[in-house]
Amino acid sequence: FNVPVAKNEPVLSYAPGSPERAEVKKMIEELRSKEVELPMVIGGKEVYTDRKVRMFPPHEISHTLGYYNQGDASHVEMAIDAAIDARKEWAELPWQHRASIFLKAADLLAGPYRAKINAATMLGQSKNVFQAEIDAACELADFYRFGVKAMIDIYKMQPESAPGIWNYNEFRPLEGFVFALTPFNFTSIAGNLPVAPVMMGNVSVWKPSKTAVYSAGVIMEVLREAGLPDGVINLVFASGPVVANEVLTHPDFAGIHFTGSTGVFQGIWKTIGDNIFKYKTYPRIVGETGGKDFIFADNTVKAPELATAIVRGAFEYQGQKCSAASRVYVPKSIWAKLKQQLGDVLATVKMGPPEDFTNFVNAVIDETSFDKLKGFIDRAREDKDAEVIFGGKCDKSAGYFIEPTVILAKKPDYVTMQEELFGPVLTIYVYADEKMDETLDILDETSPYGLTGAVFSQNRYNIEKITKRLTNAAGNFYINDKPTGAVVGQQPFGGARGSGTNDKAGSVFNFLRWVSIRTIKETF
Ligand code: ALA
Repeated sequence: FNVPVAKNEPVLSYAPGSPERAEVKKMIEELRSKEVELPMVIGGKEVYTDRKVRMFPPHEISHTLGYYNQGDASHVEMAIDAAIDARKEWAELPWQHRASIFLKAADLLAGPYRAKINAATMLGQSKNVFQAEIDAACELADFYRFGVKAMIDIYKMQPESAPGIWNYNEFRPLEGFVFALTPFNFTSIAGNLPVAPVMMGNVSVWKPSKTAVYSAGVIMEVLREAGLPDGVINLVFASGPVVANEVLTHPDFAGIHFTGSTGVFQGIWKTIGDNIFKYKTYPRIVGETGGKDFIFADNTVKAPELATAIVRGAFEYQGQKCSAASRVYVPKSIWAKLKQQLGDVLATVKMGPPEDFTNFVNAVIDETSFDKLKGFIDRAREDKDAEVIFGGKCDKSAGYFIEPTVILAKKPDYVTMQEELFGPVLTIYVYADEKMDETLDILDETSPYGLTGAVFSQNRYNIEKITKRLTNAAGNFYINDKPTGAVVGQQPFGGARGSGTNDKAGSVFNFLRWVSIRTIKETF
């Protein structure tokens, strides 16, 4: 089990004048200057269709990045067949060979493909360079490197033996194929979900979000260049219901690796239940879904640190992280000072296209998201139980821009304290200092989710009490830090309740879901 020790890929600064900034700028120009045509990749073959779908930056609707080839049910069937055809050989390939492909893919992402994967994420998903670097280049390389570590940690898990008896675990891949349904908001998650099962010897059908096809094409390019054999991962572009209908009714369906909305995941779970008699094996259902992530502050916090954490936690990548802080509880005694600090920090935040590196906030992903967010902002403006205290401007004339917006809720169960909005809209509730315990109860009960959360306090007794009281409110809990930015290998990520199956992406806990163990006893 001798493999390179997994280390997190260092995040580059992209400071003005740095070589990495020059490189990514050049790549952005190159990508902008030509329209690509992205094929599906099925059984190692590039598949083109008559239906070309236009791709454009969410921040510049008029610019065409290229077109992708939209498939139909027949392509999904082809993808499943190709996966099943590739399965035996891939499953029998010694783990060292599987590991090398992904270690090489990580090196490609961190090296020759760094600028391309970052630029594709910036243009296709409207992410600024700093967020793209953390996500697309670094976190995806980390997923692959720590994935290999998880694989080996699993292979080392062996039972006791006894005199005259040798017991051992054989970590078989699942009997069938795994379906990866991936989101737009993290290129790293899109690149990890099909790969984690595949590392353990499975084969996969991968459907990326229609708003992140552009970077999905680059991930596929990297994997193929790293030596991924044909048919092991099959990339299909077709509508969600069409793919789901083919995949979830197939007898060889063996598991789903999902990140996306709670509603879609629940629908998939139900369909799996309805089709359970069709499958050869009970499918593994692994999903990370929504969040209504919180920051809870007591009256011992320092306002400047808290203000910065709130702005970063709520508005980095336009709040389009399942982990983003979207509801904040602040005691009355610090509110006036915090409000002023928040105003000061927000005044420094610039909004615009990511090609201008000074813009911290870019566009939200699409028109549906824009309209939904604007609807909540407009409603808060008119509602007696809410007040828009910062931001609120929405403009979709050139791209889907929504200013970082802070709503002050007069009631702790105001609608935007409960519902996941998935955008740059944060709600704050100010509680009476003497009602801290009661407010914690309300926090725990107002949302169905349990993904991330943070406590800010300088008082050790409060930290202990709040951490304990909120045991089930978050799968990733932060003390004196924003609730976003989990690092692979350091903070295994995932939450329970309505937020998912909490299988902790990138860790051994997740990888265990992709094997079916055979225990062998040999008697001498
Ligand atoms: N892993 C991402 C974060 O922690 C979602 O922000």
